[in-house]
Amino acid sequence: MRIFGTAFSALALGTVMALSAVGTSMAGEGGDAITERRALMRLQGAAAGAIKAAIDSKDAARLKQVEGAARALAFSSRAIPTLFPKGSDAKAGETKALDKIWADPTGFKKSADTMGTLATALADALKNSDAAKAMAAFGALGKDGCGGCHGAYRRD
Ligand code: HEC
Repeated sequence: MRIFGTAFSALALGTVMALSAVGTSMAGEGGDAITERRALMRLQGAAAGAIKAAIDSKDAARLKQVEGAARALAFSSRAIPTLFPKGSDAKAGETKALDKIWADPTGFKKSADTMGTLATALADALKNSDAAKAMAAFGALGKDGCGGCHGAYRRD
């Protein structure tokens, strides 16, 4: 389990960094950006799933193991805005991204920043193996972080 946790975090962080580099260099290539951001989002979902399983176990060692996955989520929040270049809307490919993202880039970035803040709070609770705090922080991340942005900027 320990090896899985560490390897997962390293993989998640590496993939996020690669995607964020790609996102920056390819800004403007709509279809590729859609593929990349959907991959990043799925990775975020996998990280959240691994964290939730650890929290549910209430095992102190497992909580600590997924701290890195929560830090990766905080890092990945900074990559999100780079993966929505102008032109990567529904005309460029299959996407649930709403046009509001490009009409209100400041609000979109703020949404990503909120996710980053909440993921960092989660990582801190995990670091201290505080299961109750981690559960509350996980709920807030899902509702106001991921959910906050999805509710405003993603088609159902
Ligand atoms: C700042 C905005 C924003 C934040 C924060 C955000 N997402 Fe997303 N997410 C989106 C948008 C927009 C889409 C639709 C992308 C598309 O279809 O091009 C999406 C799509 C997804 C998808 C579907 C991917 C697919 O296969 O098409 C998953 C899963 C997902 N997000 C998970 C998460 C999780 C988990 C978090 C929080 C840890 C999160 N997202 C945070 C904006 C956000």
